[in-house]
Amino acid sequence: MATYVFPVTVSPLLTVLLVLAALAILAALGQRSSGMPGLPRLPVVGSLPWMTGTTPPHLLFMKFGRKYGPLFELYLGPHRTVVVNDHDHAREVLLQRGRDFAGRPSMVTTDLLTRGGKDIAFSDYSPLWKLHRRLVHSSFALFGEGSSRLQDIVLSEVDGLCAELLSSNGRGFDPSLAVTTAVTNVVCTLVFGTTYKHGDGELQEVMRYNDGIVQTITRGGLVDIFSWMKVQEKAQRELDEEVGERAVRAADRGRLPYLDSIINEGMRIRPVSPVLIPHIAMSDSSQVTRPSTPNRGSKSEPCHKTFPDRFLDDQGQRVTPSCFLPFGAGPRICVGESLARMELFLFLSSMLQRMSFMLPGGATPPNLQGRLGVVLQPLPYKVAVRPRAGWEVSTHVN
Ligand code: HEM
Repeated sequence: MATYVFPVTVSPLLTVLLVLAALAILAALGQRSSGMPGLPRLPVVGSLPWMTGTTPPHLLFMKFGRKYGPLFELYLGPHRTVVVNDHDHAREVLLQRGRDFAGRPSMVTTDLLTRGGKDIAFSDYSPLWKLHRRLVHSSFALFGEGSSRLQDIVLSEVDGLCAELLSSNGRGFDPSLAVTTAVTNVVCTLVFGTTYKHGDGELQEVMRYNDGIVQTITRGGLVDIFSWMKVQEKAQRELDEEVGERAVRAADRGRLPYLDSIINEGMRIRPVSPVLIPHIAMSDSSQVTRPSTPNRGSKSEPCHKTFPDRFLDDQGQRVTPSCFLPFGAGPRICVGESLARMELFLFLSSMLQRMSFMLPGGATPPNLQGRLGVVLQPLPYKVAVRPRAGWEVSTHVN
């Protein structure tokens, strides 16, 4: 058998230099013709070699934004991708020119999951997508209007969740199963008219499949409460003064601006969908206005304030900066926003009314970085729960 041996007359240093030079030439060949600042790219793999490492995409994009400005491009393989990294441009893309950018790219994984885009979130802008959104809106209207049935459905899950959390008797535990069961049951009641018992085998199957949007809602809130004991106490004082021991109702939201600001802050520092779902331009001519002075913060909004001032004015009343878009905006705005807001409010207020959350003895604070899939999920953590005075018995009747 013949053995081929390359004559090793080239030193390792020279080899490295040659490889670097080849890469530089390839990168130069792949230069952008658009003139937009952005990451280098290579044929086939695009900018991916510059995006390796463990930093999740939303943090990576912020880092690149500091270098390339609020609007920059990169190539995901052969696909040109423009990252919109400040809220003025985000508002332009999502709202003012929302229709121009309301498409969704076709991706192998999501096409498989959604049987070729038969869902809402990953379906391209189309008459079918519009019909599906209209159906969801009219169903919510049906549940919400007049009967406020939506609230009753959420409240029935609130009681079960609180009882389950309080049954932990002060032990440290991972609340994800209890929280997921409660929020999944809300959706199951709406869609199928049935609920799951805790620990149901089918529910666990659904959870494995759907390990995403719903569980992030309240787990995120709990994670953030840990390091915020004073914030927790202040929210509980507000609840004691404004609601007392009766069940919290959606109508109480106006009286609980501090609690509302905690929910907003939770969604700000731990966004459910930090890079939204990718949008695609409806035509090749769709363009975003290019910034004349890159790398500047926004002119229009005080987004630098700290918690809780960010969402409260001097009188302690709620304010919502227009840069705050946790549910997105425009044609693709989250279709579940009203349900999500009601759940966030009723679950968090009822839990804080009835119990206090703390770190179990000896446990380290949870890692807040999260894990980004379709949504940003909290990493597993443990919490301990102590009933508040008057709520020691989990069967407390309202
Ligand atoms: C705190 C909870 C939630 C937050 C912060 C949130 C946020 C978002 C965001 C940022 C988007 C992407 C918008 C875009 O691509 O421009 C989205 C899309 C979507 N969300 Fe939510 N979401 C939440 C809960 C829910 C719930 C409970 C449901 C279902 C009942 C839901 C259903 C959807 C759907 C179907 C879409 C896709 C809309 C479309 O493409 O037309 N979301 N959500």
